[in-house]
Amino acid sequence: MKKYFTHPLMDNNITDSDVNSLILFLKKNKKKIFTQSKKVIEFENKWSKWLGIKYSVFVNSGSSANLLTLLALKIIYGTGEVIVPPLTWISDVASVIQNGFKPVFADINPKTLCMDEDEIIKKINSKTKAVFITHVQGFNGLSTKLLNILKQKKIILLEDVCESHGASFNKKKLGTFGLISNFSFYYAHHMSTIEGGMVCTNDKKVYKLIKILRSHGMLRESGDRNYEKKIIKENPKLSPKFIFLYPAYNLRNTEIPAVIGLNQLKRLDKNNILRSNNLKYFLNNLNNNYYRTDFELEGSSNYAFPLVLKKANIKNRNLLEKIMNINNIEFRRGNAGGGNQLRQPYLKKYLKNINFKNFREVDHIHFFGYYIGNYPSLKKKKIIKICKILNNISYE
Ligand SMILES: Cc1ncc(COP(=O)(O)O)c(C=O)c1O
Repeated sequence: MKKYFTHPLMDNNITDSDVNSLILFLKKNKKKIFTQSKKVIEFENKWSKWLGIKYSVFVNSGSSANLLTLLALKIIYGTGEVIVPPLTWISDVASVIQNGFKPVFADINPKTLCMDEDEIIKKINSKTKAVFITHVQGFNGLSTKLLNILKQKKIILLEDVCESHGASFNKKKLGTFGLISNFSFYYAHHMSTIEGGMVCTNDKKVYKLIKILRSHGMLRESGDRNYEKKIIKENPKLSPKFIFLYPAYNLRNTEIPAVIGLNQLKRLDKNNILRSNNLKYFLNNLNNNYYRTDFELEGSSNYAFPLVLKKANIKNRNLLEKIMNINNIEFRRGNAGGGNQLRQPYLKKYLKNINFKNFREVDHIHFFGYYIGNYPSLKKKKIIKICKILNNISYE
C-alpha cells in the first residue's frame, strides 16, 4: 500500500480547478477530438508568451523534450562532444548518447548545484559542439563569463529548465538564452500536466524541425506551406500526406494535458513566489552548522528544498534518514536525478577510468545531499516544525 507522508514531496499539484476545467472541456468538445489539436496550440502559444520566446512545442515529457533537442542538434549541426552535468536527470545524458554525441562531464558549483563555469570552460575543445546545462532545482546555472565564452567560441547553449520554471538570469527567464530549451510538467514540478514537456526556441528552422520530429518525421507537421510544396514537388511518387523526412518518433501530447496546462499556467507565477518565500524561510531556520544554507538565490525559483549535510559523514547521513523516516518526511537522496550520474550502471560502457576526485562536489551531493518537498500550500508553521526536527538531530 502507498505510504502517506506528513511532509510529502508534493501536495495538491492537480487542483479541483484543474479537474473542473477538464470536465468542462470534455463536455463542451462536441467532436470529441482529444488528440493533438487546438488546445495544444493554445497552450504552446500561451507558454511562449509567458516565457518570452517565439516558439514552443508541447511533447509528452521532459525526457522527450531532451531527446528531440539532441536529435535536432545532430540533424542541423552534426555530432561532436556535448558538455553535460553529472547532477541532472538521466534523460539529459541519455539523449546525448542516443544521438551519437560524446558526453563530457563538468563538476558542479556547490552554491547552485549547476555545472561550475570554470569546470565547463576547462572541458571546451575543438570538438565541443554544445553545452547542455541543467538549471538544477530552481537555481540559475548561467553567468556572463560563461555566456561570453560560448559566444566567442561559437558553442551552442542548450538549457534544461525542467526543474526551474520561472527562474531567471539578469532578470531574463531561463530557457530564453540557449538555442533550444526544455521544460518538464511532471507531477512534482512547478506546474504539471500530469506528464508533459515543452521544447522552446527562437529559431524558426529548429521549430519547424522539432515539430516534424515530434510526429514521426512527417513533412505535413512542419507548418511551412512553401517548404511542404517544394518537398512534395521533389517527391512526385509519394502521397503528399505521407512523406517521412527523418526516422523519428511519436512524442506528441494530447488535448487533455494541454487543458490542464492552460489552467495551471494561470497560477504559475503566484505559486513560484510562494515557493521562493518558503525556501528563504526554510534556509533561515535551518542550523547552518549542520546544513548548507549558502546557496545563490539570485533569480532562483525553487520547487523542492535542498537539504545538504555539511559534513561528509555516513553515520550522520544514516541518522538523518532514520529521523526523516520516523517523522514521515518524504525525501530523495542525491538531489536532482539521484546524485552523481557518473556512478550509474548505464554509463559504465561509455566512460572508462573516471577519476572521482575530479567530481568532488557532485559526489558530496550524491552521498550527503537530499531534497524534500516545497509546495505552494506548505505553511510556515510546518516549515518551522520540519526545521526543528532537522536541527535537533544529535550529529557527531
Ligand atoms: C533536469 C531534468 N531534466 C529532464 C527531466 C525529465 O522530465 P520528465 O520526467 O517529464 O520526463 C527531469 C525530470 O524530472 C529533470 O529533472
